[in-house]
Amino acid sequence: MNIHSFSRKKSAREKISMVTCYDHWSAKILNDTDVDCILVGDSLAVVVHGFDSTVHATIEMMELHVAAVRRGAPDKFIVADMPFLSCSKGVQHAMENVHRLMRAGANAVKIEGDTHQVPVIQHIVESGVPVMGHLGLTPQSIHNLGGHKVQGKDEKRASVITDAARALEAAGCFAIVLECVPVKLGSCITRSVQVPTIGIGAGPHTDGQVLVLQDLLGVDPEFKPKFLRRYANTRDLLKGAVNHFHADVVQGEFPSLAESYQ
Ligand code: KIV
Repeated sequence: MNIHSFSRKKSAREKISMVTCYDHWSAKILNDTDVDCILVGDSLAVVVHGFDSTVHATIEMMELHVAAVRRGAPDKFIVADMPFLSCSKGVQHAMENVHRLMRAGANAVKIEGDTHQVPVIQHIVESGVPVMGHLGLTPQSIHNLGGHKVQGKDEKRASVITDAARALEAAGCFAIVLECVPVKLGSCITRSVQVPTIGIGAGPHTDGQVLVLQDLLGVDPEFKPKFLRRYANTRDLLKGAVNHFHADVVQGEFPSLAESYQ
């Protein structure tokens, strides 16, 4: 997968798959899968660091995690999230942050937010760095949105988001994430732009789908948004393995002589 594969896949009506990844060991596993691309999402602030929102992700955190993922997944196309306010303090500051993520190993950056981001997106794209947009529910604006709510439910908001998608395309975005919008809006935006849309909670008609790796692996049974499909029950698998190890240690069954140095 390279930058041209995104538009080629949309033209060929081939769906694009993307999963998040934050660390080296899971990156090594993903490098050996068929998944099209990896997102080092700022959701790592919640999933890895235990904060209550992505607002806590910093450029230092993103840089470290991008580098770890790149070392584990040398063959994958990696998109790195620009964290909270990293694009909002002037173009020069944004470019310094972009530079850090690209040097850490990203192939592209993702920027949340609508038309107010157009000037900075244009500058980044003109500087030679591919940019993925992100519309709908944009978790960095959680305080403005008043919670994790489906966006674009009424016609007025739906047309604002559709216009924003066109503006991001015109600014040079090579793809756009659509998060938590009604099926009809996901489909309408997908038809309104030439670049691929990658949905999460945006229905089946987007050009691709993205999920948080830990969510699709079923690490947290308490987290069950409508859009999530779990492909494994990793929590029980991991608990079972660790409890098995504990029982073997307690019963003196680990290690065996074959697992010991003579
Ligand atoms: O940070 C993230 O995980 C994301 C996805 C939900 C698209 O932006």
